[in-house]
Amino acid sequence: MVQASAPGKCILFGEHAVVYGQPAVAVAIDQRMNVKLELSEDWRIDGMIFHPERHPHVDALRQRMWNSGPPLSIKITGEIPPASGLGSSAALSVAASAALRCARGRQITNDDWAEGWTAASPNNVYNGPWEFGKGDSVLFGMAAVDEDECAILSHAVEAHAQGGKASPLDSSTCSHGGCVVLSDKIENNLNWLYSRKLNDVRWEVHSIELDIPNDIWLVIGNTGLHAPTSEQVAKVAKVLEEQPERMTEIETIGIISRRGITALLEGDMEGVGRAMSENHLLLRNLGVSSPELENLVTAAAPSSLGVKLTGAGGGGCMIALTRDPKTTSEAIELAGGRTLISRLASTGMSVDEEGISGLWNPFEN
Ligand code: PMV
Repeated sequence: MVQASAPGKCILFGEHAVVYGQPAVAVAIDQRMNVKLELSEDWRIDGMIFHPERHPHVDALRQRMWNSGPPLSIKITGEIPPASGLGSSAALSVAASAALRCARGRQITNDDWAEGWTAASPNNVYNGPWEFGKGDSVLFGMAAVDEDECAILSHAVEAHAQGGKASPLDSSTCSHGGCVVLSDKIENNLNWLYSRKLNDVRWEVHSIELDIPNDIWLVIGNTGLHAPTSEQVAKVAKVLEEQPERMTEIETIGIISRRGITALLEGDMEGVGRAMSENHLLLRNLGVSSPELENLVTAAAPSSLGVKLTGAGGGGCMIALTRDPKTTSEAIELAGGRTLISRLASTGMSVDEEGISGLWNPFEN
């Protein structure tokens, strides 16, 4: 048996503006998705027959990483509500790719990665097995798993499941954990991780080492409503098309995000909170809030350092930065929201049960 997990995420600053090249900041949250794999007579997911069309992320990973492997029983558990902007599908994809890699191992040659996403031919790397030469060996378990690989695989299958469109913000945050910043250029004051490109859009992915005081919490308030991200993005595009001068608001969100990043780097939680609340006002002005979100934001504000909607808006979730999570959570619940309480910048993907020799050795004749 092999088991892996990955955290969800929420966006602290810069949603929507990131579509126009401004920086966006996301943090991993304490709520996670877990994926457990066991060998089975036939393909099962949560005990039921596996229908690939109902699980596009898992199916895309299965095709890439388990092409001719034996059937598996897959169990998915987790605390991240789906379709609420908290990265549940990216967390699932990251956990599943970690579990599959752990279970199938990775061929190595002379101590270098010989198989996987870093290989010379990116189009064909998962269709292995590669020819197994003298001196080659296979690593199984945790040693075979790699955060960058999980991030890139998760990004690829998110794009596949969403008709070719996905930014790497969710996949990178859910894989690496902590705090991730996406921008259209390399940000000199941050730790640059890598570039990602998809359909002519290019992102620079960075991480920030955060030192968050112990008494600081995020309370996530879920409206329980779902507004598709694509519709919300289209709404902003329409505003900007009809009133091009409002691009200054997008640029102002960028300025606020950078101020938020500085406050995060300095451990200035009051500054982080102020930037969050200012970011919310601009998002509201752009038309991506909703009466339900406003209701929760208003309820949380008195006991918080900062409050804002998080993600695409229109429904989904808001977040509050607070030193008094109990009071903030109660206020949001009284206003009709469901809450989750998390620290900022939780740990990334982990292998929780690694098995000993994997579930399949694709290099065995
Ligand atoms: O709803 P989420 O958490 O997937 O956030 C969407 C973020 C947007 O900036 C609105 C869209 C995007 O592709 O970045």
